[in-house]
Amino acid sequence: MEKVHKDTLIGVIDAGTRTVKFCVFRPGHTKEIAEHTVDIVTHTPQEGWSEQDPKEILSAVRKCIDNVVQQLGLEAINIITLGITNQRETTILWDKTTGEPLYNAIVWNDIRTDSTVDIILAKVPDNNTNYFKNICGLPISPYFSAFKIKWLMHFAPQVKKAIKAETCLFGTVDTWILWNLTGGAKGGKHYTDVTNASRTFLMNIELLTWDPLLLHTFKIPANILPEIKSSSEIYGRVARGFPLENVRISSILGNQQASLVGQRCLKEGQAKNTYRSGCFLLYNTGISKVQSTHGLVTTVAYKFGSKPAVYALEGSVAVAGAAMKWLRDNMGFMGDIQKETESLAQEVFNTGDVYFVPAFKGLYAPYWRKDARGIICGLTAFSTKQHIIRAALEAVCFQTRDILEAMNKDCGIPLTKLHVDGKMTVNSLLMQLQADISGMPVVRAQSQDITALGTAMAAGAAEGIKAWEIYSEERELVPSDTFLPTSTESERDARYTKWKMAVQRSLGWALA
Ligand code: G3P
Repeated sequence: MEKVHKDTLIGVIDAGTRTVKFCVFRPGHTKEIAEHTVDIVTHTPQEGWSEQDPKEILSAVRKCIDNVVQQLGLEAINIITLGITNQRETTILWDKTTGEPLYNAIVWNDIRTDSTVDIILAKVPDNNTNYFKNICGLPISPYFSAFKIKWLMHFAPQVKKAIKAETCLFGTVDTWILWNLTGGAKGGKHYTDVTNASRTFLMNIELLTWDPLLLHTFKIPANILPEIKSSSEIYGRVARGFPLENVRISSILGNQQASLVGQRCLKEGQAKNTYRSGCFLLYNTGISKVQSTHGLVTTVAYKFGSKPAVYALEGSVAVAGAAMKWLRDNMGFMGDIQKETESLAQEVFNTGDVYFVPAFKGLYAPYWRKDARGIICGLTAFSTKQHIIRAALEAVCFQTRDILEAMNKDCGIPLTKLHVDGKMTVNSLLMQLQADISGMPVVRAQSQDITALGTAMAAGAAEGIKAWEIYSEERELVPSDTFLPTSTESERDARYTKWKMAVQRSLGWALA
């Protein structure tokens, strides 16, 4: 291990669903010292489809690193290591001899694989969605990578051809970036980490290896899969031709797991909720796995080097911030989401009894219903766009409450406060609504960079950098502010009952 200099810096590539960012941390600090962000285009060639260009992701990584290196000037030489965090489940297949993608990336929230799901369901007793849950921790759903790979193997002739020629490689976004950064067709490292592997539907959650029964069920050849590594170890070095050449790459974490680490929820019983395009609540269950009987998934939270893997229960919500984007882009309700959502929603005192279930692509936890579709109910001649915007914010909070209810049932010990982060949390009205709807204090991390911070912490740990005291389990190190509930129990329960009524109306809509 190299000696750590006092000016040491750690870089993080944060490849999310809507943006790619590169940022730099000083060990021990929670705020990044430089960052650059580039938007990523999502293509929707058909209804329910969601694709991105893998090469655009890569050139965004390059642009962001170049920009930050320029900002830092001579100081950039102090970046000794890099971490990668990424949108999970998004599936990329490419040719290992040319480095060319064989198809666009199929994004996690794409629902083209509905029919693939039905094929798998038809193979299991009683069409049981949870049939493989004891192996991989996940329910059968278009969300997870294996369904996307199977679709590509069936519908993309170039994929079939490359698989036959044994030149096809699979990766989630972390793997795609790592393989390219470490040399691509000239010896790139084909690795992923346990957190990303746990979202593919192909990893045995107990053994942390690719599962032969699942591979057989999907007819996916093992030779296309990356090697599964821990979330914090040295995977390789940046190859010649990329900025930051020769710098080590020392952490990989799915972005929701990264924010669990960044929030320092490193102790059993601690949980966080991240509000971005989707919303993801992870509850640390320690080194033991909890199998949910209430619609949550079991996932790997992190694994630092040779230490045992730590698990989490996760409640995933497909549409959170994405509903605001829809209100802006499709309804024209606002111009700037960040600047206008809160003030418009505040122009009314409540939603006027309007409920909005944004099940644009079905509903994830705890319902797992791919046949659900979006619904706005309770409209009257009095309803305005302000009511609907406020109802969209409340929908994020009600979906979180759905997950909290499930988590309390699965874990037995109810959470007493909710730690939150993510871009949407700058909206203080949303935070207050969340406290009022869940009936618990909402503790908001002051830093917007929690996902990247967690990744930097994991990279630091691999390099022997102790500045963040990653093993200290002290949450108080994360600067936060708190929103307390102002509602009574009967008020919140009455409103929650109405939300459940609205959800019922959205279920099965795609089949009707
Ligand atoms: O599972 C999908 C999740 O990783 C997406 O996160 O924040 O990029 O929307 P985000």
